[in-house]
Amino acid sequence: MKVLVIGNGGREHALIRALSQDSSVTGIWCAPGNGGTGQHATNIDVDATNPAAVATLASELAIDLVVVGPEAPLVAGVADAVRELGIACFGPSAAAAQLEGSKAFAKEVMAAASVPTARSFACTNSDQAEAALDAFGPTYVVKDDGLAAGKGVVVTDDRAQALAHAQDCDRVVIEEFLDGPEVSLFVITDGTDALALSPAQDFKRIDDNDEGPNTGGMGAYTPLEWAPNDLIDEVLATVVHPTLQEMQKRGTPFSGLLYVGLALTSQGVKVVEFNARFGDPETQAVLARLETPLGQLLLAASNGTLSQQPALIWNPGSAVTVVLAAPGYPQSPLTGEIITGIDHAEAVEGVMVLHAGTTINADGELTSSGGRVLSVTATGANLEQARARAYEALGHIDLRDGHYRTDIALKAAHSA
Ligand code: AMP
Ligand code: GLY
Repeated sequence: MKVLVIGNGGREHALIRALSQDSSVTGIWCAPGNGGTGQHATNIDVDATNPAAVATLASELAIDLVVVGPEAPLVAGVADAVRELGIACFGPSAAAAQLEGSKAFAKEVMAAASVPTARSFACTNSDQAEAALDAFGPTYVVKDDGLAAGKGVVVTDDRAQALAHAQDCDRVVIEEFLDGPEVSLFVITDGTDALALSPAQDFKRIDDNDEGPNTGGMGAYTPLEWAPNDLIDEVLATVVHPTLQEMQKRGTPFSGLLYVGLALTSQGVKVVEFNARFGDPETQAVLARLETPLGQLLLAASNGTLSQQPALIWNPGSAVTVVLAAPGYPQSPLTGEIITGIDHAEAVEGVMVLHAGTTINADGELTSSGGRVLSVTATGANLEQARARAYEALGHIDLRDGHYRTDIALKAAHSA
């Protein structure tokens, strides 16, 4: 089968590397791609958020399966346009992608499906926002209703800052603060059946010890040795299936990847957020352990035959992903710097370098072009070994003033 992957990040590079291991995949294209995806796929420039442009491209290339990486194309209706041409697409319709596209919609669906989540109010003016902030008290959680590329959520004890964020947005969701560790659980679904991938944890803050501003994600690891054994079964029963049933009932079934962001609170497991696509950088770590052929799995989800899919096969070890960011990230990343040492890094056992904000310049040199430049993913017999390999590999990569966290999976490795 011929596969077209939409997107240009580390997640898409990870999807492409995994797809290239599936013997049923005979050709891979990536639109628009980055400086690394071109090694394993043919990069094609296209406006990923233009549904007609993506669908036309898929048709011209005689693609069998389109895999949409990021949320913006999904919310824009890329999956709908591709399916209208009779081409299989992994990713929800625009209507179903509202589970990520609107926090208020997600809350409404969760309420209708009795899914455990933080109590919340949707507010459209200052008076409502003030009332909601005071109803919950600190710590305040204020979320821009729409897509905000990870920058829409403010979590603070400062009421004035919380209110200011609410006033900056047209519509916000203000909710109860959830304590406890966070887990990212990815679920592949055809709208009815669902297969959970190995749970992962990501590191959202820029600096060690979870300090500094929020980012798109600075690292991840999987599996979570410390998580309860019945976590997946519980989340499938209390979150995933009720949500899928509610979406079907509304006439907007959700197929593709349901990203369930969870907090393991003192009062049980609660949903922090839904996303409508694979998470980045958790995907890099999760797919590094998946041995089931990815193309066949995503195709089964896209054509409604997931129930015939055998159980997933996992490499028994651990995987750790560490993101190398440009100086100035997340506020104002400095780009255009030359990157060297990737071959050397990939010579370390179990290591894969996955590109995100990279491009090949006019002289054929690999240069940085975004905030999260690349990530190093290492597998190992356990977290300790995977971590050691990832950090050894990072030591071989040169990006002037590049920054990475040194504590990805550190606590989990020590407590294992
Ligand atoms: P979201 O975009 O909803 O995932 O929020 C981004 C991040 O903000 C989450 O990963 C959490 O770290 C934090 N967050 C969101 N909602 C809550 C909440 N109700 N309580 C505590 N932290 C939250
Ligand atoms: N790693 C968080 C996200 O992809 O939204």
